[in-house]
This record gives sequence, structure tokens and C-alpha cells, in this order.
Amino acid sequence: MTFSEKTILVTEGAGFIGSHAVVQLLNEGFRVSIIDNLDNFVTEAVDRVRDWFGPKRSQNLEFHLGDLRNKDLEKLFSQTQFDALNHFAGLKAVGESVANPRHYFDWHY
Ligand SMILES: NC(=O)c1ccc[n+]([C@@H]2O[C@H](COP(=O)([O-])OP(=O)(O)OC[C@H]3O[C@@H](n4cnc5c(N)ncnc54)[C@H](O)[C@@H]3O)[C@@H](O)[C@H]2O)c1
Repeated sequence: MTFSEKTILVTEGAGFIGSHAVVQLLNEGFRVSIIDNLDNFVTEAVDRVRDWFGPKRSQNLEFHLGDLRNKDLEKLFSQTQFDALNHFAGLKAVGESVANPRHYFDWHY
């Protein structure tokens, strides 16, 4: 299997660190799938990556709007077999966590 046949899932691919990882993976020739709930970002980040790579190379990039804490991830795993996962998604702003602590608790058990 060559690099270009390998598919990497990037959680938070629309976020700061994840979007940089996506650019690097696409540059290396991987196919990339992103899952992000856009809690702290907007699809423009993904659009910018697509603009950067152009229509042909952007065919290697898929965006899935979804939350890691529910069935969205399960659904994605049932549709695609990934070769690796880069996990970056999370909430991490200290000020926000103090101002809105409930947002930082996970109520899914
Ligand atoms: N930015 C830094 O300097 C830095 C340094 C060290 C470690 N980190 C860690 O790297 C990770 C990413 O940081 P960042 O700065 O890129 O954050 P960011 O806020 O830019 O991106 C976080 C992304 O995760 C997504 N997200 C959050 N919860 C989600 C969920 N339940 N399901 C799906 N998507 C979800 C948000 O929508 C957002 O796009 C964090 O875990 C952070 O602690 C960041």
C-alpha cells in the first residue's frame, strides 16, 4: 500500500493544530478525513486548505461535521476504514473554562 492509498482521520482538523496537521498530511500524499463539531472553529479553515491545494488535490480531503462523544464517530468508523488517527479535538481555553465550566464537563457516560 502506498501513502496515497492510506487514509488518516484527524479529529479537530478544523482547529488550529489539526488544520496544520491536515496540510502536512496532504502534502505527504495521504488521504485525510476530518471530524470536528465546529465548537471552536468554522468551516472556513477547511475551505482555506481546499483553496491552498486546489480542486484536484482537495479530492483527498473530506470533512465530516460531528462530535466525538456521540454516534457520529461510530457512524464514520462504519463507513470508512482508517489507517491511522490523529486526535487533537478538545476544549482547552482556561478563561472560557472558568467563565463557563459546564461547557467543560462531559455529561455523556
Ligand atoms: N494551541 C496550542 O498552543 C496547544 C499547545 C499544546 C497542546 N495543545 C492541545 O492541542 C489540542 C488542539 O488545540 P488547538 O489550539 O488546535 O485548539 P482549537 O480550539 O483551535 O481546536 C480545537 C478543535 O476541536 C474541536 N472540538 C472540540 N470538542 C470536540 C468534540 N467533542 N468533537 C469534535 N470536535 C471537537 C473544536 O471545534 C475545534 O475545531 C488541544 O487538546 C490542546 O490542549 C494545543
